[in-house]
Amino acid sequence: MIMLLVFGMLLHDLPLSRPQEASPQVGAEGAQGGPGFDYASIRLPEEHIPFFLHNNGHVASVCKKDPHCPYKKHLENLKYCWGYEESCRPEFRFSYPVCTYVDMGWTDTLESARDTFWEQADFGYAGARRRELRELCRPEQTSDSSLVCSRYLQYCRATNLYLDLRNIKRNHDRFQEDVFQTGEIGGHCKLDVHTLMSEGQRKSPLQSWFAELQSYTQLNFRPIEDAKCDIVVEKPAYFMKLDAGVNMYHHFCDFLNLYLTQHVNNSFSTDVYVVMWDTSTYGYGDLFSDTWKAFTDYDVIHLKTYDSKRVCFKEAIFSLLPRMRYGLFYNTPLISGCHSTGLFRAFSQHVLHRLNITQEGPKDGKIRVTILARSTEYRKILNQNELVNALKTVSTFEVQIVDYKYKELGFLDQLRITHNTDIFIGMHGAGLTHLLFLPDWAAVFELYNCGDQRCYLDLARLRGVHYVTWRRQNKVFPQDKASAMAKLPGFCFSVRVKCVVMNGHHPTLGEHPKFTNYSFDVEEFMDLVLQAAEHVSRHPKWPWRSRRDEL
Ligand SMILES: *[C@@H]1O[C@H](CO)[C@@H](O)[C@H](O)[C@H]1NC(C)=O
Ligand SMILES: *[C@@H]1O[C@H](CO)[C@@H](O)[C@H](O)[C@H]1NC(C)=O
Ligand SMILES: *[C@@H]1O[C@H](CO)[C@@H](O)[C@H](O)[C@H]1NC(C)=O
Repeated sequence: MIMLLVFGMLLHDLPLSRPQEASPQVGAEGAQGGPGFDYASIRLPEEHIPFFLHNNGHVASVCKKDPHCPYKKHLENLKYCWGYEESCRPEFRFSYPVCTYVDMGWTDTLESARDTFWEQADFGYAGARRRELRELCRPEQTSDSSLVCSRYLQYCRATNLYLDLRNIKRNHDRFQEDVFQTGEIGGHCKLDVHTLMSEGQRKSPLQSWFAELQSYTQLNFRPIEDAKCDIVVEKPAYFMKLDAGVNMYHHFCDFLNLYLTQHVNNSFSTDVYVVMWDTSTYGYGDLFSDTWKAFTDYDVIHLKTYDSKRVCFKEAIFSLLPRMRYGLFYNTPLISGCHSTGLFRAFSQHVLHRLNITQEGPKDGKIRVTILARSTEYRKILNQNELVNALKTVSTFEVQIVDYKYKELGFLDQLRITHNTDIFIGMHGAGLTHLLFLPDWAAVFELYNCGDQRCYLDLARLRGVHYVTWRRQNKVFPQDKASAMAKLPGFCFSVRVKCVVMNGHHPTLGEHPKFTNYSFDVEEFMDLVLQAAEHVSRHPKWPWRSRRDEL
């Protein structure tokens, strides 16, 4: 159903860029700067500094005058920009995606293919959201409230926001649509009710904030000034409605969208709160919670912390959501023939940098091969030992087998291993989401995609790492032939949505290629790994490339 909607809308509902008034000016007047500016608080990868300085002119000027500024060398590169800024000249963009052929279903030239991919999945996506921004509640005095949103209320920024949680009735529903009655959410500003109410077409828990904001009320008091709040939250807060925290693919849709949200507002401070918007009585199982440290200095705050209170936020950002139509990266319809977005590469760099995960570099031109084993009941590699022994006959390969069980190996240790891998091999499964954190020159080998052809292929091309998968059906051997023969449509969500709905229990979908184990023809396997190795060693960023070329 969701699938039909997504593909049915594909051709006539692309996000069109419409220039809008009221785009809140980010950039030059952003954060605080001054003599003795705390450069360490920026905490961005070195490669991102010129982009930060471009958008924070005051920090650049402080740096110019300050003999101790560690970023002097970047002052020559102030024209560099992510690509969504109005001031950004295309030749100075962070990066351009690469297109190798034209997908005629979308467009007809390589150049427009690249532009399409840029808007679908690269920083062009942030640009489109920024151009959509509209002021829905207009402040008339500086101490007033405000509400600015992108289309369908996928992203909003509110100031002096009032939330009355005195009457909240929690139940089993994580995203109740009628939590607020008139007057229970709002601000002191001039509300454009008509525009607000016209943005409801995508009302759905993980696609829009319409359900939460439709009751936004123009209040006749100033919540903070008039002391109507039991709690005033001073720090900026990001509201997030989270997808499944036990599944890496889904949870990283949350994190990627948070990063994207920070680009829409162009601010990356960690001195902010993350408030998990949840109206149920449940807790939240999060196997990847270490990742929050890349975004906030504090623990994630559950909305229920404020139950029975009137809480006011000086600044709140309603984050882009993990399952938006044409959103990223779950189910995104992408033009084929294109790969490597700057957005996903920047996300990877940003997270790794803030989590202190470093590249140790392959030693002596060795290629580090990591096999991800599974400890679930299905999609096991039955002849794993045989495959490993074959790999070990190649002296260039440094092989390791890992089982990313969170109880035995913390997530940061998992990331450290992944980031120090050149060829990452694993069966179809959420663990392959680790490919986001491979080095740029790496290859991922989805040993068998179980008929789900697009999911990790698309993720790999978004991230810009080389993707390989099993090709010959007659050289892979399911443990249980009948189940592997069953044919179901190969889309990312065909099984996953149901898994999530059923709380991770074994879906009763009948026989399906995802629910058996496999063994693989060794020769074919080696052939594919050697092809991947060839790609790695020819990659322009492979540290040993020049050495190799000399030989
Ligand atoms: C969003 O951008 C505005 C304008 O630059 C800035 O004042 C604000 O602090 C930013 N919000 C967050 C949460 O960083
Ligand atoms: C990374 O290192 C910095 C500085 O040493 C430290 O403050 C920070 O807590 C570390 N972050 C993580 C996630 O370990
Ligand atoms: C796959 O292997 C696991 C572990 O050996 C076993 O428990 C499971 O029953 C196997 N699945 C099938 C469908 O044969």
